[in-house]
Amino acid sequence: MKISVIGAGNVGATCADVVARGNYAEEVVLLDIKEGLAEGKALDIWQAAPINYYSTRVKGVTNDYSATAGSSVVVITSGIPRKPGMSRDDLIGTNANIVASVTRNVIEHSPNAIIIVVSNPLDVMTYCAYLTAKVDSRRVFGMAGILDTARYRAFLASEIGCSPKDIQAVLMGGHGDTMVPLPRYTTVSGIPVTELVAADRLNAIVERTKNGGGELVKLMGTSAWYAPGAAAAQMVESIVRNEQRIYPCCAWLQGEYGLTDIYLGAPVVLGKNGIEKIIELQLNEDEKALLNQSANAVKDVMSVLDGMNLPA
Ligand code: NAI
Ligand code: 2OP
Repeated sequence: MKISVIGAGNVGATCADVVARGNYAEEVVLLDIKEGLAEGKALDIWQAAPINYYSTRVKGVTNDYSATAGSSVVVITSGIPRKPGMSRDDLIGTNANIVASVTRNVIEHSPNAIIIVVSNPLDVMTYCAYLTAKVDSRRVFGMAGILDTARYRAFLASEIGCSPKDIQAVLMGGHGDTMVPLPRYTTVSGIPVTELVAADRLNAIVERTKNGGGELVKLMGTSAWYAPGAAAAQMVESIVRNEQRIYPCCAWLQGEYGLTDIYLGAPVVLGKNGIEKIIELQLNEDEKALLNQSANAVKDVMSVLDGMNLPA
């Protein structure tokens, strides 16, 4: 199976590296527009194969989509990241054009591919790829929920003093400040998190999670890549191995949660067909209100994209 990653920057290269280490794909193709960048990073990752012990071939190309032909899964990370003071939504003008042109090339060469979008603003760039690809929405979805949930889980593990492996959680909504962590659906090896963490500390962790991306932008001057790249690779793995893992992903909602015609984070089953199922949680009134608030924020940015009149 061939996996392609578009954009060989921080997130794309990390994703390619994690996919290769998984040793489940025959080939990973890394593509970028910067001359030599993808070739160099792919060669470096391939040279780690004897050390990290995998057989997955890793190849880099400069804007040559013929090398991606026949990909089963394509991860789109191309676009500019945020700088301090920028919101994810500030990226829309530049990244919509990039994501649309990349998606056109991807579909032309891999008409049956499943597309995972990573570029920001995530929910709206996923919508952009869906509009451009013109394929079943179960094959076009976005990565954000795994990352945001991982941040929440990592903060909780530090607070409790336990392994992050033992924190089970789900987070919904858009990939922005209105995301909706769900403490009612958070357990620590089966123990409700509310029995282990005081309410004020839990609230502080929820707030830190919502600003988790911004915290890293402030520290590094650009956005994160280790956890984002690993999160996208985890989605690839569930698809390639047809694992049917349940992850929060940015999915096209058609009536689920009372929401229609919107890309928004919700728990889904990921398998060989892409999104096999969208899971509907029984949210309480407060949780529903937060989700609706997040949906409204995403809809506002979707309408900016609709107004951009990108070439079909
Ligand atoms: P980066 O700047 O390190 O890499 C982006 C790469 O895209 C660059 O190498 C650039 O040359 C390439 N590129 C630009 N236009 C292209 C085109 N038309 N075709 C192919 N390649 C093209 O940025 P980084 O840190 O890798 O972030 C990438 C994107 O992912 C950003 O939009 C960022 O905001 C987003 N992101 C999303 C996350 C999420 O949770 N969904 C998490 C982290 C980043
Ligand atoms: C993140 O959450 C900026 O979306 C990126 O790290």
